[in-house]
Amino acid sequence: MYQEIDLDKIDIYTEPPIEEPARQYYYMAKCRKLVEKETKQRGRPFTFCVTTFGCQMNARDSEKLTGILEQAGFLPAPDEHADFVIYNTCTVRENANLKVYGHLGLLKHEKKSNPHMRIALCGCMMQEPKVVEKLKKSYRFVDLIFGTHNIFKFAELLARTLEGQGQVIDIWEGTDEIVEDLPLERKYPFKSGVNIMFGCNNFCSYCIVPYVRGRERSRRPEDILQEIEMLAQDGVSEVMLLGQNVNSYGKTLKTPISFGELLRRVEQIEGIRRIRFMTSHPKDLSEELIQVMKASEKICRHLHLPLQSGSTRILKAMNRRYTKEQYLDLAERIRREIPDISLTTDIIVGFPGETEEDFLETLDVVQRVQYDNAYTFIYSKRTGTPAAAMENQVPEAEVKSRFDRLLSLVQENARARTARFADTVQEVLIEEVNEHDPSLLTGRMSNNLLVHFPGDAALMGSIRKVRLNECRGFYYMGTLISD
Ligand code: SAH
Ligand code: SF4
Ligand code: F3S
Repeated sequence: MYQEIDLDKIDIYTEPPIEEPARQYYYMAKCRKLVEKETKQRGRPFTFCVTTFGCQMNARDSEKLTGILEQAGFLPAPDEHADFVIYNTCTVRENANLKVYGHLGLLKHEKKSNPHMRIALCGCMMQEPKVVEKLKKSYRFVDLIFGTHNIFKFAELLARTLEGQGQVIDIWEGTDEIVEDLPLERKYPFKSGVNIMFGCNNFCSYCIVPYVRGRERSRRPEDILQEIEMLAQDGVSEVMLLGQNVNSYGKTLKTPISFGELLRRVEQIEGIRRIRFMTSHPKDLSEELIQVMKASEKICRHLHLPLQSGSTRILKAMNRRYTKEQYLDLAERIRREIPDISLTTDIIVGFPGETEEDFLETLDVVQRVQYDNAYTFIYSKRTGTPAAAMENQVPEAEVKSRFDRLLSLVQENARARTARFADTVQEVLIEEVNEHDPSLLTGRMSNNLLVHFPGDAALMGSIRKVRLNECRGFYYMGTLISD
């Protein structure tokens, strides 16, 4: 876990250490000197902006980037009018990719009016050779490019960039290394993501994640527990355990441990009041996990269980390794054991070869499971994945019409599911002051629903009871109940 290391005591005029993380602390100290120098020359502080695309894992990585930039002496800027702008990118779907190019176009102009500006790109998109080729050729104004496997080297790469050695590019094809103990800056003081594993071995045929995030690696339970203990001491009451497939956590460790067992141990940590996790793959969800959740006082009443498709034929082509029946059976068992649980899901429409019959199977599952919420995606062809080479790509108009039908069913169910809590009293973690109306606070229930209610900003980060007075579709308006 990150210890306070006095960067000013590090001698940056000697050779950098070889071992990690000492080497990165050396470079942080070096960056700090470089930033100090530039700040003096310009007579105003050096600012930074980290923009994150994609999933929770990227969000967590961005906290690591922010931690290092702050150690280096940069000040946070409210937007991308900053001296150092870094995009932590996602490439799971084509439009995530296009967004980055759109933003870059704007930054190019920005850089013309601020010659001190540096632009950096990292994250999943950078692991695609085609992307890096394009950046090298047509985006010379980007100063630093690195990938997912060497994010721990950010301080070192930042030092090279600040020293102005031209376009710095460092992409690794993979890694077995997990470098711990680097600084990070949490977005919320009271809740935190915690990586429990990296990468993915599932190779769902549509998905690019295994190619850009590498093979599955679990962190040692001791390290995870120690991190959570430190977080608890630092005022964190909610943790979200992160991995692409948390249900296979620990299987490849020298001393294997199940995800259920890890959860039991996290439950013991004093100060932690809520535990969430993301994402569960249905094929690996064990009976043990259901029982651990059922018995737990702290694990939130929410399970995100990606379906992807309701058609067994399409699921096979997707390499998901469960059938429609197995999924329905699992969902039913979970609902039976933990009746108050909220189930959410991800669904892809228009996978190659999907027929109207296949699509109706998806609607059937949605209707039967009655999800509390579902994220629906139009299939996006990702170069290099097996599905990209499949014939029978579904015509766009057909996909669009299916997407709309799915969305209206999903929303209809979600509204009905949300409404079932009307007039109840729920515990919420108070997470935000409402952007539009600062007299309102926003709280999150154990099942992930949001409620807005009048209250004082000083309550932020505490867990309180709120009455849910009025259901407004997918959220509630409520009133705080005084203890
Ligand atoms: N590991 C997680 C998912 C990570 S990606 C899991 O298996 O559940 C998040 C979601 O993006 C996926 O669940 C899937 O629904 C969607 N997705 C992934 N690749 C996609 C693609 N090529 N086109 C459309 N949606 C995709
Ligand atoms: Fe992608 Fe499948 Fe891995 Fe999820 S489990 S990240 S969808 S390959
Ligand atoms: Fe995107 Fe990478 Fe996450 S591709 S969804 S940011 S793992």
